[in-house]
Amino acid sequence: MKNICVIGSLNMDLVVNVDTMPKPGQTLLGGNFKEVPGGKGANQAVAIARLDGRVSMIGKVGNDSFGKTLVKSLNDDNVNTDYIHEADCPTGVAFITVDKNAQNAIVVAPGANFELTKNDIDKNIDCIKNSDIVVIQLETPLETVKYALQVAKNLNKYTILNPAPAVKLDDEIIKNVDLLTPNETELEILSEMKIENEDDISKATNKMIEKGVKELIVTLGSKGSLYINKEKSFFKSAYKVDAIDTTAAGDSFTGALAVALSNNKSIDEAMDFASKVGALSVMKEGAQSSLPTLKDVESFIV
Ligand code: RIB
Repeated sequence: MKNICVIGSLNMDLVVNVDTMPKPGQTLLGGNFKEVPGGKGANQAVAIARLDGRVSMIGKVGNDSFGKTLVKSLNDDNVNTDYIHEADCPTGVAFITVDKNAQNAIVVAPGANFELTKNDIDKNIDCIKNSDIVVIQLETPLETVKYALQVAKNLNKYTILNPAPAVKLDDEIIKNVDLLTPNETELEILSEMKIENEDDISKATNKMIEKGVKELIVTLGSKGSLYINKEKSFFKSAYKVDAIDTTAAGDSFTGALAVALSNNKSIDEAMDFASKVGALSVMKEGAQSSLPTLKDVESFIV
């Protein structure tokens, strides 16, 4: 089994369930308030660890109780936290509302995540050196992401970028990405193309391949996922389940892909595994609280 390094965010998720999303200016009464460990980076690291992957994380938390809780929770899940350090500012926080259709709306106050610098990548370079696969998202500063991808590629590592939350990426970033895992909305922002149908998805993914991405997997929610590289493309259906909360579904999918690839599975097998993990994650509430173990996946009956 190969080692995986996740570089990214840790947030404390502050979650309230609502019947419908609030409209601008509206006050709504929701359900009970919950604090759940989250952050796209940490969610992907936990997804990997629960699926028995070997994972270390580079990230930053504040010197406060949320930071300590988040690091302890990662340790309890067997994520190596030696490369997570404290910054002199609050830990990242995400304000999340989840409606009765399982959809969410998230606002992130990045806090310490935005203190992760190029210097931190240099100081923690052993984490990248000791790994085969490097997984990154976009909840830390873009110049850190760009530098981390460059360092990882210079060290011949396989890089996975989950471009969330999406922003337009410059070609320097794109050319150092082996596998890009956007959803439809993120693909629209990255490709700067309107996506309304399958043909649009195909045009947008081709544009990303032309820009230098080697492989893309576009997640299409309950429809499934689409793989594309220079030579081929294929579609994989999703497993049909009753979703109650889609928070971290994309994180679970990217984490699962990394684990499967670290176990030398084919891309087809990796996508099937990730689809099962994604399906299981939407059947439970919260971010890290919803991520399945390998045993859960093996006993998943469709
Ligand atoms: O992808 C879900 C995550 O997005 C949440 O856990 C929240 O912290 C935000 O980062």
